Amino acid sequence: MSLPVRSLTPAPADPILGLAETFKADPRPTKVNLSVGVYVDETGITPVIPSVLEAERRLLAKAGPKGYLPIDGRPTYKSAVRDLVFGPDHEIVTNARSATAQTPGGTGALRVAADFLLQTGSSRTIWLSEPTWPNHPQLFTMAGFTPRTYPYLDDSGRNVDVSRMLAGLRGAASGDVVLLHGSCHNPSGVDPDPRTWAEIGQVVVERELVPIVDFAYQGFGHGLREDADWLDGLAQPGLEFLVCSSYSKNFALYNERVGALTVVAADSARAASALSHVKIAIRSNYSNPPAHGADIVDTILNDPDLRAQWEVDLAGMRNRILANRAALVDALVAADVPGNWEPIRRQRGMFALLGLGADQVARLRDEFGVYVVSRGRVNVAGFSAANLPTVVAAVKAVITG
Ligand SMILES: Cc1ncc(COP(=O)(O)O)c(C=O)c1O
Repeated sequence: MSLPVRSLTPAPADPILGLAETFKADPRPTKVNLSVGVYVDETGITPVIPSVLEAERRLLAKAGPKGYLPIDGRPTYKSAVRDLVFGPDHEIVTNARSATAQTPGGTGALRVAADFLLQTGSSRTIWLSEPTWPNHPQLFTMAGFTPRTYPYLDDSGRNVDVSRMLAGLRGAASGDVVLLHGSCHNPSGVDPDPRTWAEIGQVVVERELVPIVDFAYQGFGHGLREDADWLDGLAQPGLEFLVCSSYSKNFALYNERVGALTVVAADSARAASALSHVKIAIRSNYSNPPAHGADIVDTILNDPDLRAQWEVDLAGMRNRILANRAALVDALVAADVPGNWEPIRRQRGMFALLGLGADQVARLRDEFGVYVVSRGRVNVAGFSAANLPTVVAAVKAVITG
């Protein structure tokens, strides 16, 4: 027998990671890659942050056997990341009404969340923001969901369109799943304010929706607690939800694959029961998680000195991104590039949408060697004093010419 017929037609390259391959093959020395969602420093390098280096030194010094981890991961990791998400004194923690499983990255958390929900009888409809991270529709479709979209941005692409967003969510049926970006919305950098989160929480309760909070950028926006505005909107008695955390970005541990799925339930018995089903989803998928990345995060979060160092490291990445936002806006305005750029200064996280059409994105790449994702999504960390003038001149050329 041969492989299934459809496997013989090559699938399209991943829209973001595929572009990285094209960039690599581009011979132009002035090329600039603003497409991939990986933090880089002023020299274009993804740093190993000092707290991670020190944690690795300590782990090596006490290296032990490499036996399997429990299906849901190491207990000390699980409690540390739970406290990071909610804060150790939060009612969800003190009432023990959450259960956390260690996962391979935020993507692993999302896939386990999808499998857990479907295997326990969830609605097959998931509502995604339009726009969203392109892997969301693909991941949830492959797991068996039917994605639908709710409006997110206003016509300028610079603000949440609160009334259209809420109206979209009100169109969901009872029991439907809704995916919400916890902070640093990818691709827009535009987040709901606390008042809007309260309104989202009300609609979720009214419509009896099941939220998944994709929390891939905690601390990359304005701070570890500042980026958890969503929590006040959703942490209501009886409201059950899932949180998918990634430690790829805020610990710069991209290739170690470290993340977590946390289920918040009405009480501790329901949380424990949910975890037993999460463990089946994991066991039947990758059996148990990889250890090294999670051991680094565990070591850092459970040691006060290392934790303090990590917060300094994280602030360094966050502040560089904020400075780059300001530099980008200043340069676009100074060069008289037509557009409403000012709001980009106060957006959150690694991404901003320049609001470019497909032709303009193609011209940036083909004529100027500037690689951005659709709608002109740029990785703000990718700018440097050296490449900013090139990028701004190229953006001006494709907008005005
Ligand atoms: C919104 C969003 N969710 C999840 C992820 C996945 O994170 P990880 O690399 O930890 O799987 C990303 C990564 O880019 C993301 O942007």
